[in-house]
Amino acid sequence: MKVLFIGDIMGEPGRRAISRTLPRVMSEHDVDVVIGNGENVAGGFGITPDLAHELFDMGLSVITTGNHAWDKKEIVEFFPHEPRLLRPANYPDGVPGWGSIVVDTPKGERLAVLHLMGRAYMPALDCPFQVARREVGRLKRETPAILVDMHAEATSEKMAMGHFLDGEVTAVVGTHTHVQTADEQILPKGTAYITDIGMTGPIHSVIGIKKELAIEKFLTGMPRRFEVASGPALLCAVLIELDARLGKAVSIRRVRIAE
Ligand code: FE2
Repeated sequence: MKVLFIGDIMGEPGRRAISRTLPRVMSEHDVDVVIGNGENVAGGFGITPDLAHELFDMGLSVITTGNHAWDKKEIVEFFPHEPRLLRPANYPDGVPGWGSIVVDTPKGERLAVLHLMGRAYMPALDCPFQVARREVGRLKRETPAILVDMHAEATSEKMAMGHFLDGEVTAVVGTHTHVQTADEQILPKGTAYITDIGMTGPIHSVIGIKKELAIEKFLTGMPRRFEVASGPALLCAVLIELDARLGKAVSIRRVRIAE
């Protein structure tokens, strides 16, 4: 099975980059399942039901989110109706939506996606490590093929999760920091790993934001209303090949394609 996991999709430029590059990437690499992080898809902050449908229509089977999951208030009521849209599993009990899903691929294989969020320099949630242990145990009863999106700020917390789940899941991939890291690897016990997939969005920007606004905020220390930058965009993703019956990763490679 080949899975393309797309990094944080930033606003209209990110959606445009997907629509222009995804069909070619899917056919060239014989991709079975596409997953993407969509928490910044609505003007850089949050996601709406319409935009979730737009991503599903473009070929995504599962959308993960993160700390920006709730930025658009209309999405809160949408979560319980759309199991393909995930919020981190370590939100407290009673929060709308789900933190994992098992999807059936067109080839009749099963793939689980588990979404977690870190706690270092992030909102205080339940422990992602304890929740991972519990959820992976539950998901393994349905399929050995499990991908984890660890949405976190600190590289150390993402690496710790990779090693914590090494040999237990197929892949642990990081999202949230918007810059693709060059540390993709198969960990010692067989789990594919990358600290951050990177952003799918405007190239000439500060992690997707208009550079002038970001610079002004750093220069003055005053709050600024951020806007998504315009101009040419980049698709950032990882392509993970796995043995779905064994749940073992075969390879992980970075993908960076300008629209
Ligand atoms: Fe985030």
